[in-house]
Amino acid sequence: MNFLKQFISNPKDTGAVASSSKQLTELIVDSADVPSKKCIVELGCGSGVFTKEILNQLPAKTTFFCLEINPKFVAQTKKLCPKATVYDASASEIQKYLNKHKRKTCDTVISGLPWAMFDKQKQEELLGAVYESLEKGGTFLTFAYLQGRALPTGKKFQKLLNETFSKVEVSEPVWKNIPPAIVYKCTK
Ligand SMILES: C[S@@+](CC[C@H](N)C(=O)[O-])C[C@H]1O[C@@H](n2cnc3c(N)ncnc32)[C@H](O)[C@@H]1O
Repeated sequence: MNFLKQFISNPKDTGAVASSSKQLTELIVDSADVPSKKCIVELGCGSGVFTKEILNQLPAKTTFFCLEINPKFVAQTKKLCPKATVYDASASEIQKYLNKHKRKTCDTVISGLPWAMFDKQKQEELLGAVYESLEKGGTFLTFAYLQGRALPTGKKFQKLLNETFSKVEVSEPVWKNIPPAIVYKCTK
């Protein structure tokens, strides 16, 4: 099973032809300041590259789980990261899984979701679920490919982030990622 195969069979949900690079992984996970967090949710873990780096930095008492809709990716992340809790579930169900972990909210959401592949309604539904799940002052981290940012759906997503969060920071491009990408760091 490889990323390209999943992209060919389901391009809209997979949204990428390859896993994120080491450089993008380090930027997004380091921006989350994992060692200071109490509850982290990862959305769309794919093959588990962010998951592995999050686990490397995760304090023992921090709640951490992943939601991934593709069962093949669920299996791949579990294989790469046997200590991770990975649910075969949509990001829209984040509240349900927080409740399962006896939490009402989390302080951090790290997303690998392909936002520019989603229509306006799906962006609003999923981002709404993320926002409701975050405590005040909580952090939402996600990335966008440079070419995806130029699409109407990419522009809509950036507008939605600006309308939803009190602060939105945009990183410098990670040129070594294929394709190059930026990271959005959003504060509720
Ligand atoms: C661009 S890949 C990113 C994978 C990985 N985080 C990385 O950066 O290499 C997007 C992932 O989001 C997953 N995904 C898409 N829609 C989802 C949803 N509604 N809920 C959970 N996962 C979803 C896809 O199955 C895929 O694994």
